[in-house]
Amino acid sequence: MTVPITAAAPDAPTAQGPSAADGSAEGPSAPQVLARCRELVRPALAAAVDLLHPWPAEMAAFSLGWCEVGGCPGPGGGGEGKGVRQALTVLCAEAAGAPAESAVAGAVAVELIHTFTLLHDDIMDGDETRRQRPTVWKAYGTGPAVLAGDALFALALETLATAENAHSAAAIRRLTQALRHLVHGQAEDLLFESRPWTGPGAVRLDEYRSMADHKTGALLGCAAALGAQLAGAPSSTVAALAQTGRHLGVAFQTVDDLLGVWGDPEVTGKPVHSDLRRGKKTFPVLAALSSSTPAARRLGELLASPSPLDDAALRDAAALIEEAGGRAAALDEARRHLDLATRSLHSVPLDPAAVGDILALLPFLVSRRM
Ligand code: IPE
Ligand code: IPE
Ligand code: MG
Ligand code: MG
Repeated sequence: MTVPITAAAPDAPTAQGPSAADGSAEGPSAPQVLARCRELVRPALAAAVDLLHPWPAEMAAFSLGWCEVGGCPGPGGGGEGKGVRQALTVLCAEAAGAPAESAVAGAVAVELIHTFTLLHDDIMDGDETRRQRPTVWKAYGTGPAVLAGDALFALALETLATAENAHSAAAIRRLTQALRHLVHGQAEDLLFESRPWTGPGAVRLDEYRSMADHKTGALLGCAAALGAQLAGAPSSTVAALAQTGRHLGVAFQTVDDLLGVWGDPEVTGKPVHSDLRRGKKTFPVLAALSSSTPAARRLGELLASPSPLDDAALRDAAALIEEAGGRAAALDEARRHLDLATRSLHSVPLDPAAVGDILALLPFLVSRRM
């Protein structure tokens, strides 16, 4: 199928102040930066998806918000995802002094990999909505969604392998290593579900951090590094940007955990309380349980209930997590990793305008509501 190219929806809701959200004399806002990168990458992303068999191509286009089930164009904006990984790749190429175009193959590859992992993740997590729409497994069936994920995975590698860039072999090595780490993180995330909430077998915060660094940090770190690597930047620059992306990934995942408890599904496009229902060991819950407060004790008792938690019990759990300090601790954790990401960014000489764009993006991603 020919994938329709729809208009961008750059203005994601944000908790940022007005100047950061609307743009200011100091530079473009984070939504503007994301929109610029999305516009730059979309034609190559659409051309890549168009190489696929029409059926997985339609599922990919559906998941990217470009078409409805059946292939008709729509919905136009909103369903595309934020495009964080592709933006990081573009911005890090620019930060390394190269034109944004040098990063397009890398940006397409990371966005395809991201979409693939979401398709499979929604099956693993049993989630039925994403990006304000049914998940691909819900809309097309589990087998087809697995196939579409496989197709996107293969397409990502093909995109890099066929890129006319002297550094594409090294870029493929980096991407496949990131994927191994991502799978490691997903494995921990799934295994943590059957660990107890409290007691000797409980998941520790350092185990969570390692899981999040693998599950989410690996691909964000790779996205950042690929931009610089494809631009031919020195290894010290590539390493510093990889670190920036990895810390951003842990901050990003911690915020994703927060949105899974207190987010508005109308805004996030994903279900709320699904993590708690499945026994996911997310940062706010682990931090709350480790707080030695009366609320932590009550929360532990509630979560240990042998019967599944109903909606009222899930709301009680969310209130107890907040009372025990889990929400504040998760925000602190996200801010700490944001700070580490920023320090890493400042540790090497880079193009100031691109650094300005990255610095607009980082706090936006931590204060986001979607
Ligand atoms: C969701 O990623 C999965 C996580 C790693 C938390 P995003 O929040 O970047 O998803 P989209 O692409 O914007 O939908
Ligand atoms: C995100 O997993 C990481 C990957 C998909 C590899 P999550 O399960 O935490 O993310 P959401 O909340 O479904 O987007
Ligand atoms: Mg999930
Ligand atoms: Mg998951």
